[in-house]
This record gives sequence, structure tokens and C-alpha cells, in this order.
Amino acid sequence: MSGAPLRVGVMGAGAVGAYVGGWLATAPEVEVLLVGRQRLADAVAAEGLVVSQGAREERVRQVQVATAAAALAESDVVLCCVKSRDTEAVAKELTEILRPEALVVSLQNGVRNPATLRAALGAERVLAGVVGFNAVLRSAHEARQTTDGDLELEQREHESARRLYAALRAGGLSLTTHRDLAPRQWSKLLINLSNAVSALSGAPTKELLVQAGYRRILAAVLREGIGVARAAGQPLARLRGLPVGAVPMLLRAPSWIVRLALGLKVDPKARSSMAQDLERGRPTEVAYLNGEIVRLAAEHGATAPLNQRLVELIRAAEAAGGSPSLGPEAFWTALHEREDP
Ligand SMILES: NC(=O)c1ccc[n+]([C@@H]2O[C@H](COP(=O)([O-])OP(=O)(O)OC[C@H]3O[C@@H](n4cnc5c(N)ncnc54)[C@H](OP(=O)(O)O)[C@@H]3O)[C@@H](O)[C@H]2O)c1
Repeated sequence: MSGAPLRVGVMGAGAVGAYVGGWLATAPEVEVLLVGRQRLADAVAAEGLVVSQGAREERVRQVQVATAAAALAESDVVLCCVKSRDTEAVAKELTEILRPEALVVSLQNGVRNPATLRAALGAERVLAGVVGFNAVLRSAHEARQTTDGDLELEQREHESARRLYAALRAGGLSLTTHRDLAPRQWSKLLINLSNAVSALSGAPTKELLVQAGYRRILAAVLREGIGVARAAGQPLARLRGLPVGAVPMLLRAPSWIVRLALGLKVDPKARSSMAQDLERGRPTEVAYLNGEIVRLAAEHGATAPLNQRLVELIRAAEAAGGSPSLGPEAFWTALHEREDP
């Protein structure tokens, strides 16, 4: 142990970064510096950072906020929490700023971000992570966890990594570590195929699971994704204790069975980050989620028409500036239409 506090920087303090960074700052011997936008800096300076999960809520004052990555120069660990489209630019910036021994941990969805960071920073300095829960910003300075789920990180024998695992647990986050995270990253990607369904329906996550019409769509899209991953020989981790292949079948069962079998605790306000992006008129991560399945299928001489169609529908919604709020029947029809050649 060095005796000095572990300096953790968060690059891109939005829903995930502010949430994880906020709880980390409550752990002993940790200093947290969030890099985010001016609205976050102003709100935290005025009211502190509020993090909450279920009935647990903490107003965290002991957190610094900056608006430029340069502030991360002295970090021991940087949590990369920007959207996938920003990873390459951030990786380049961090290369110039960070000390050579600093670790970078990707807490992003999709399966490409750790590789993008490794290409710029070197493989030994980057750890992959999977955030298994949903987080939303209720206001500029209030981050809330809205579903249950663990944080999963790559296991690494490294002083800062060990201190980070301990600090995350001391901050009350449910953390597991794994030698090989790839099967979990891919299983999370399969779950994230539903983000496009969430965004195009405009419905909260709970509604998607309650309505059989939406579950039929989720099951079809997931089944296609599993088929592509299997054809590519990609190992997949179990989901909530279930073999991945059982989940599409389960989604077709009555909703009380789905709730019981998945044991899901979902806040009525939970919404995917893609839904939040569409709502704010921002580009989405669809190319890194459904688009990844389309790419993988093509690499193996196959197609993934449902995921391809979701990419097209999301692109159209981005161009239109918002969700088309498709009901289950209209959604099913749109999913099976072909884009005009
Ligand atoms: N939200 C969830 O529930 C959840 C769960 C699991 C995984 N994830 C994944 O976690 C990643 C982050 O998602 P999120 O929902 O937390 O996204 P988010 O709320 O958009 O957070 C990213 C933040 O980083 C900011 N940012 C980007 N570049 C910056 C820069 N150079 N300097 C300062 N700030 C910068 C963004 O500002 P602008 O928006 O102004 O660019 C935004 O506030 C994504 O890969 C997502 O898929 C999210």
C-alpha cells in the first residue's frame, strides 16, 4: 500500500460516470475527480452530487469536477464513461495526459471500447468492465441506479486495480471480477440489443417487460443476436443464472413468469441510455450494439435482418429528432418491412 489516497478520475461523468464516481467518493482513502460538462460542475458546486439506489441516497460533497481531461493528469485510475463514439478521441487525449502507470477502465457498453483504448494506451494499461445495471441522471447532479445488477471488471494483478476493487466495494457497489470478461461483454451486448426497442417504443423498461407484444419483439431480436454470436463461435456468459438461449423462450412466457424467473427489480422510471439519447436529440450507440451483430453476421457470410432493421429505424429516428413511439403492433410491422432499395 502506498498510504496515499487512490486518485480516481472519471472521464465523461454522465449517468454511469457520476453514479459510480459518486459512490466511489464515499469510500475511505479515495479522491474522485469527475470530468464532465459545465452543467454538472455548476450543479455539483451548488448542491453536491446526489447518488441513489433503492432507498439508499447520499449527497456527496467530497468530489471535484472539471470540464477538461487535462485535470486527470495525476490520476491513478481513470474510468472511461463516455459514449462509444467518443472513445477514440478520449483515448488520444488520455495518451497525452496520463502518467504511464495510470490504469484506464472502460465502463461502456458494446465490445469495442477496451480495444480502442488499448490501441492508443497499450494493452497492459486498460481493463474492460461491464455495467450490469441501468443508471439515469434525474437532474444535472442526481444519478440514480434504476435496475439491479452488478459491476463486472476484468481481474488484474496490479496495485491500483486491487485498490480500485476494494474502493468500489467499500463505496457499496456490487462488484465481481473475472479473468476473462469477453463472454460477459458479449452477453451484455445481447441484452443491449433491446435498447433500440426501448428507444423506438419510447416505453420505460418495465413496460417493455410487461407487454407481451413488446416481449415478442425483444425475443425475436435477441434470438437473432444469439444465433449470430454462436455461429461466430463467441462464448457467452449466463444471464441472471440462465443459459443465454433460454432467455428468448422465457420472454414469450406470461409476464408473471418472466418477472419471477428473471427476478428483476426495475424502477418504473428506468429507460435505456439509447432512449435517453433519442429524447435529447443526440446520436445513439446503435452502431456499436445492433450494428455489431450485423457486422459479425456479415463477417461470417450471414445476415441479421432484424438487427439491421433496428439500425435503420434508429437512424431514421435520429434524423427525425426523436422516438416514433411505436406501439407493439406497429413496431412488429416496421421491424419486418424492408427499407426501399
Ligand atoms: N446509462 C446506463 O444505464 C448505462 C448502463 C450500462 C452501460 N452504459 C454505457 O456507459 C457509457 C456511458 O453511458 P451514459 O448513459 O453514462 O452516457 P452519458 O449520460 O451521455 O454520459 C457521458 C457524459 O460524458 C460527457 N462527455 C463526453 N465527452 C466529454 C469530454 N470530452 N469532456 C467532458 N465531458 C464529456 C457527455 O457530455 P455530452 O453528452 O454533452 O457529450 C456526457 O455527459 C455508454 O457506453 C453506455 O452504453 C450505460
